[in-house]
Amino acid sequence: MRQAGMLVERMKKGEAAPDKHFNPYLHEALEYQNILLTGGEWAERKTSCFADSSKPLLIEVGCYMGKNVLEFAEHNPEWNILGIDITYKRTVKAARKIKSLGMENAKIVISDARQALAELPAGSLAGLCVFFPDPWPKKKQRKNRLLQEHFFEILKEKLNPNGGFFWFKTDSEDYFLCVQETLRQLKWSESESDARPNGLEPLPYTTVFEALFIGKNLPIYRRVYQPQRANVEESPQR
Ligand SMILES: C[S@@+](CC[C@H](N)C(=O)[O-])C[C@H]1O[C@@H](n2cnc3c(N)ncnc32)[C@H](O)[C@@H]1O
Repeated sequence: MRQAGMLVERMKKGEAAPDKHFNPYLHEALEYQNILLTGGEWAERKTSCFADSSKPLLIEVGCYMGKNVLEFAEHNPEWNILGIDITYKRTVKAARKIKSLGMENAKIVISDARQALAELPAGSLAGLCVFFPDPWPKKKQRKNRLLQEHFFEILKEKLNPNGGFFWFKTDSEDYFLCVQETLRQLKWSESESDARPNGLEPLPYTTVFEALFIGKNLPIYRRVYQPQRANVEESPQR
């Protein structure tokens, strides 16, 4: 499988874009040097790409064209927001908006989320959002899902032990139940109802897909999970 962002990575190193891969977004991606990062750039600059790297980092995986990245960044100026997606069109459209608004606390990475996440130093992530991931609805497709036990093992290592959270929304009951079961087995805590993490401005942060599903009156599953830490598990019950 071609690595997301590989062509633009090569173009930044001086290679011409091959004609057969011509894609206007590929060329536009070069205009957002410090806003739209390739996976390789993220690996090199993950702790220095934001103007103020001391702010807590919130990542949205599958950020689409950036609606929520922009909302998070605008309403939470004390946070750094990173959107990750795998297509040129979506990441370029997100970066275009960030540039036009002059936002310093929002960046986009074109990469598979698993690779971008693996680059983070342990304990450095304040929160990770995955909203309406591709559901892979058939049983034999489940192996393609992003959210599996291994993903959560890595995520636990990357989340800040003091309050780091995973915020999940989906319309897929089966995906929701699989994630819920996995995280119960891993002993993560779960917040129900219209969950929204503490520390962020209390907006609904309705996503593009969420608005579509709400319009069709479909059920939506929203949860915030946090890994249990050793000192929490050992504290005496009252
Ligand atoms: C169904 S869309 C949901 C978009 C948005 N989160 C929303 O709720 O409106 C799923 C998004 O995840 C992205 N995606 C799929 N696999 C990914 C991966 N491995 N890493 C990062 N993004 C991924 C897709 O390109 C797409 O933009």
